[in-house]
Amino acid sequence: MSSYNEYVRNVLIWNQQLKSLLEAEEVQKEESIWKRLDKFSYLMEGVQRRPIETEELIKIQHEAEELHDQMESYFAQRQQLGTIFMKEPNIAVGKHQLPRLPYAYDALEPYISKEIMELHHQKHHQSYVDGLNKAEEKLKEARKDNDFTLVKHWSRELAFHGSGHYLHTIFWSNMSPNGGGEPKGALLEEIKDYFGSYKAFKLHFTEAAKAVEGVGWALLVWSPRARHLEVLQSERHMLLTQWDTIPLLVIDVWEHAYYLQYKNNRGKYVENWWNIVNWKDVENRFLKASELKWRPY
Ligand SMILES: [Fe+2]
Repeated sequence: MSSYNEYVRNVLIWNQQLKSLLEAEEVQKEESIWKRLDKFSYLMEGVQRRPIETEELIKIQHEAEELHDQMESYFAQRQQLGTIFMKEPNIAVGKHQLPRLPYAYDALEPYISKEIMELHHQKHHQSYVDGLNKAEEKLKEARKDNDFTLVKHWSRELAFHGSGHYLHTIFWSNMSPNGGGEPKGALLEEIKDYFGSYKAFKLHFTEAAKAVEGVGWALLVWSPRARHLEVLQSERHMLLTQWDTIPLLVIDVWEHAYYLQYKNNRGKYVENWWNIVNWKDVENRFLKASELKWRPY
């Protein structure tokens, strides 16, 4: 297959995805976006079964770009009107799942061993997912039976396992085999603005991680109300949590995250961990999180 035809095949798949999206979003057939998409489908059907010329390809590319722009502005407009861009199904009670790791278990070596990653992900994280599901189900039962005798216990479980599940989910993508270095762009500017320099931030975060009382986390968060970054510690998963903030960069300093490899030298683990920080992920989380701004007073 020529690369032109392969391109056409990919555009056809994209075309089909756009149709499914409009259908899923229940966009009315009269909307101009549908007309544009139909016109584009017609153009594509005309070229899909025969070799195409460069001139035609340029026309298709131009149409595809315009369609892409129109889709973007259409959904941006709908979003402004308060409609959701994609219908993300919410997670039903007791239906949380262990997320897949975005890399292989041995991908973070030598900084974090395969053995730790396997245990950490398959055993520890799984148990938070199970615990969260159980707590949600028990609280659903309590609502159904109108019996809240154990509400204190299950609320605690909900916070413990819920925070455990969410923080681990962030933690996995906060790291990458291609990580390390320094952040860039708006996040770097914000770090400099609030902490003085990247060096000062790194030292603050490192010391906070080393000094977490017992087991827990250190976190870089964005505060939508104060409108600046902050470094926090969280004992266990949820104690000392500053609610109303959004974690951007988190490090797990529970013993299961490092003990097999680093024994009691948490400091060495924290120092080495900087080599696998996925700054791209943190930058993306920051850009998204910093859109959220509450009234400060
Ligand atoms: Fe952990």
